[in-house]
Amino acid sequence: LQPTVTVTGTLALSVFTAVLGSLEFGYNIGVINAPQKIIEEDYNATWIHRYGEPIPTGTLTSLWSLSVAIFSIGGMFSSFCVGFVSERKAMLINNLFAFIGGSLMGLSKLCRSFEMMIMGRFIIGAFCGLSSGLTPMYVGEIAPTSLRGALGTLHQLAIVTGILLAQILGLESLLGGADLWPVLLGLTVVPTVLQMSLLPFCPESPRFLYIVRCQEHHAKSGLRRLTGRHEVGDMLAEMKEEKRRMDMERKVSIPELFRSPSYRQPMIIAIMLQLSQQLSGVNAIFYYSTSIFIKAGVQSPVYATIGAGVVNCAFTVVSLFLIERMGRRTLHMLGLGGMCICAIVMTIALALLENVPWMSYICMLAIFGFVAFFEVGPGPIPWFFVAELFSQGPRPAAMAVAGCSNWTANFIIGMGFQYVANAAGPYVFLIFAALLLFFLIFTFFHVPETRGKTFDQIASNFHSSNRRISLDIGLDMDTDGEIEKDSTELDYL
Ligand code: GLC
Repeated sequence: LQPTVTVTGTLALSVFTAVLGSLEFGYNIGVINAPQKIIEEDYNATWIHRYGEPIPTGTLTSLWSLSVAIFSIGGMFSSFCVGFVSERKAMLINNLFAFIGGSLMGLSKLCRSFEMMIMGRFIIGAFCGLSSGLTPMYVGEIAPTSLRGALGTLHQLAIVTGILLAQILGLESLLGGADLWPVLLGLTVVPTVLQMSLLPFCPESPRFLYIVRCQEHHAKSGLRRLTGRHEVGDMLAEMKEEKRRMDMERKVSIPELFRSPSYRQPMIIAIMLQLSQQLSGVNAIFYYSTSIFIKAGVQSPVYATIGAGVVNCAFTVVSLFLIERMGRRTLHMLGLGGMCICAIVMTIALALLENVPWMSYICMLAIFGFVAFFEVGPGPIPWFFVAELFSQGPRPAAMAVAGCSNWTANFIIGMGFQYVANAAGPYVFLIFAALLLFFLIFTFFHVPETRGKTFDQIASNFHSSNRRISLDIGLDMDTDGEIEKDSTELDYL
């Protein structure tokens, strides 16, 4: 029987404060799309001011691509550094990056320096890389088991809200014009200031305090604040069990995640899930939607882009309600399958466009469907699923590896899509369809369901599945991705 779970004010405040970082992450993904032409004009003006002649086209393209892509490079580096200090402290320190990055971008026009803009994008990328690991970890650790998926999805909801906000504010009539674009880019410091002022009121993760720092007393008072209950013995008992198991293991380094049979399997699953998110092709839409909509013959591509942003938000909310009912595995497969079908429909529509003009509507609907299915599963799930697959000890190292895979794949799509799209024409989305099918099959065979299980149950299921397999000579270890239903389902709350 599951005890009723209440969402206390402290839990709500802590989750809200943490996902402010995700909001900034989304904002900076979306912010660069709309004002491209206007910022490019300023790069040109700077060039003329410095060298007395207009910027060569090739140089402008390179400077712009660098301004866009260096964001993911910042993320790739920083996501690898997750886990040195406690999440709350790290979030506090990380705000410094957002402050510096936002200020550099916001002041770059005034200082006539595209170098400042590029540097700012790199630093804000570093901020986003760290918060893409820290937020899901912190939220996953403070959330009651039965709400871990729903609260974990809030990370993605904040990302998509940030994207939408940036798309709307980026309209030329709002902040995307020639004079105000620095404000648009500098606005990212607002959530930073808010997060910095609220973090001191949020408790440190009790799991971190107890399992890593051995501070039982502080962990207990954090649990009391988060749950609103005085009696938290059952939760402590569960952490005790996790700590006991952890104390028997050595500290887990990144190479060990791949060497140790008990971590290798969840690590491969974590990486594949992150790759399934990025190689699904969703960011091809978010980075290049305007040109895709133009190619698809859509009348007002900027508004169609905002439409995609709205669909993106709406379906993240749908996922929020479904995640604890249908489970992670089912939703992830549903999302991948739906995206695959939409990608095929989109390809057919694009191929027929020249002869059948109304195909542009089908194409737009297919793009909206593609985004909607993404948010049902592949958008939110990989972020918090990694935190669920590992216990306290290996979790930070695993988040670092998974986060870095995500950002690397993000970079590859950001840089490579335009070239492949030029070469493959309307058939470019078939590549994503094939990849989506591959990830769907992988999920079906290897990804376990983690809904309703404590961290300790999930980790120990991998341990026991490995013990069983290693005894069963001749069986491939990776063939058993299934976590068995535990008869004694203990709940965190
Ligand atoms: C996920 C991805 C991010 C993408 C976004 C779209 O958060 O990590 O790269 O832009 O979803 O909603």
